[in-house]
Amino acid sequence: MTTSTEVRPTTTLPVAEAIQTRRSIRKFVQEPMNQDDLREILRLASLAPTANNVQPTRFAVIQSKDLQQKLQDVSYNQSQVTSAPAVIVVYSDMEDVLANAEQNFPASMGEEQVKTRAEGLRAQFGAQDVAQRGQWALTQANIAFGFLMLAARGKGYDTVPMLGFQPDKVKELLGLPEHVQFAGLLPIGKRDEEGFPHHRHNVDRITTFY
Ligand SMILES: Cc1cc2nc3c(=O)[nH]c(=O)nc-3n(C[C@H](O)[C@H](O)[C@H](O)COP(=O)(O)O)c2cc1C
Repeated sequence: MTTSTEVRPTTTLPVAEAIQTRRSIRKFVQEPMNQDDLREILRLASLAPTANNVQPTRFAVIQSKDLQQKLQDVSYNQSQVTSAPAVIVVYSDMEDVLANAEQNFPASMGEEQVKTRAEGLRAQFGAQDVAQRGQWALTQANIAFGFLMLAARGKGYDTVPMLGFQPDKVKELLGLPEHVQFAGLLPIGKRDEEGFPHHRHNVDRITTFY
């Protein structure tokens, strides 16, 4: 069994090293998440950019074994959901953005400006239906999902991104509204297995230079 000190660097990894050493991990060291690290990883992920700075990404953090077991039950029994000390659910909630549009603008703008900008935001997306703007918001949450994996790896943690779950059942379990859209589940902790080496297309296979 790998001990946590072997896999947890004392310093933050440079971005390239975090990318290079990230791999999907499905078996984790059995110890609770350090809560300061968890908050810092979430903070870093919250710095991901969004179009017009709309910020529709939301995180739900599950650290109860009981709830993790229920989550695993609706994730085709994938054992990484309970092996990890925590699972971060990443989703977009565009209706929350619109209902609280004023929060998207700094108070320093002044009350009038904030009101005008908030109305503008509601008008911009009001023309779309809930599913359409939800899908748009999901493209933003997906960026944060990527940031989250790399922020975790940069702080010496491991993850596995997951889309293998029943979205409606997860909403029911977490009490989330019907309209939210999931970027994915992210079990997180310290690796207790090596994972698989990267097997990827060559850059020339996937790139066209003009
Ligand atoms: C959006 C997304 C969804 C995924 N869903 C699952 C999943 O449900 N279960 C699982 O074991 N792995 C899942 N994976 C992990 C992939 O299998 C893995 O990323 C891929 O094989 C490359 O391996 P690596 O992450 O170790 O580089 C998912 C990956 C992504 C990006």
